[in-house]
Amino acid sequence: MNEHAKPMTLSERADELEERMMHELGERIATKSTLFNIADGKVEMPSGPALKAANPDKYFLMGADPRLPKMPAKPTLIDFFHNRFASLNHLLQSATHALKGGHSEKVVLACLLHDIGVASFIRADHGYWGAQMIEPYVDEEVSWAVRTHQALRFFPDPSVGYEYPEMYIKYFGADYKPEPYIVREYERARNHKYYMTSRLICVNDIYSFDPNAKVDLNDFVDIIGRNFRQPEEGLGFDDSPSAHMWRTLMWPTRFL
Ligand SMILES: [Fe+2]
Ligand SMILES: [Fe+2]
Repeated sequence: MNEHAKPMTLSERADELEERMMHELGERIATKSTLFNIADGKVEMPSGPALKAANPDKYFLMGADPRLPKMPAKPTLIDFFHNRFASLNHLLQSATHALKGGHSEKVVLACLLHDIGVASFIRADHGYWGAQMIEPYVDEEVSWAVRTHQALRFFPDPSVGYEYPEMYIKYFGADYKPEPYIVREYERARNHKYYMTSRLICVNDIYSFDPNAKVDLNDFVDIIGRNFRQPEEGLGFDDSPSAHMWRTLMWPTRFL
């Protein structure tokens, strides 16, 4: 920047970033969905006609975004772990903890997958999103547990030594009370046959990452193989009720 030039405003900087992003993409125009802007506090989406007018020689991106890690033609859960989940440590630590505790493979898988909503997609209501993603491919005990940990983690269970997490007091304040829909979910869950599976997710949920812990996704490949029905066509291409979710993770900047 020339020293006499005015410093850029935030929105000018955002425009410049968008411009640069467009160049990196070469011949294609990647579009940001409303959700991505909402997260920046703006309820807006880029206008298709305006983007096209500014880039008359380019077409909109309708497939893979070249800035993201390449996915194979028939992606597996492991491919998503490696290429689309922003962080694996928490999931691997929780699953490792459950494995060492001698729990069933369903519990270990539930721990391994419990926060994939957060790792890949969105924090809000992540238990519900994560459960929906895996529902067609796992035993209902696993998806039920993932969905319900959303609520259970806010309520103690002294029978297994689970207390309200200290971290939540630090993160949300001492006054935070879960919303009524979470309280209702907890009350429904208490007498459910899979209650303990979901509760064990909370018990094995490791909130602080131990930098010395040795965790490796390879330790879980066999458990995934036995308990996650990987579709032959690849996740996203099997026409399951959640296939679109996996496709969206694969191609998040498609125009439509
Ligand atoms: Fe969680
Ligand atoms: Fe967690």
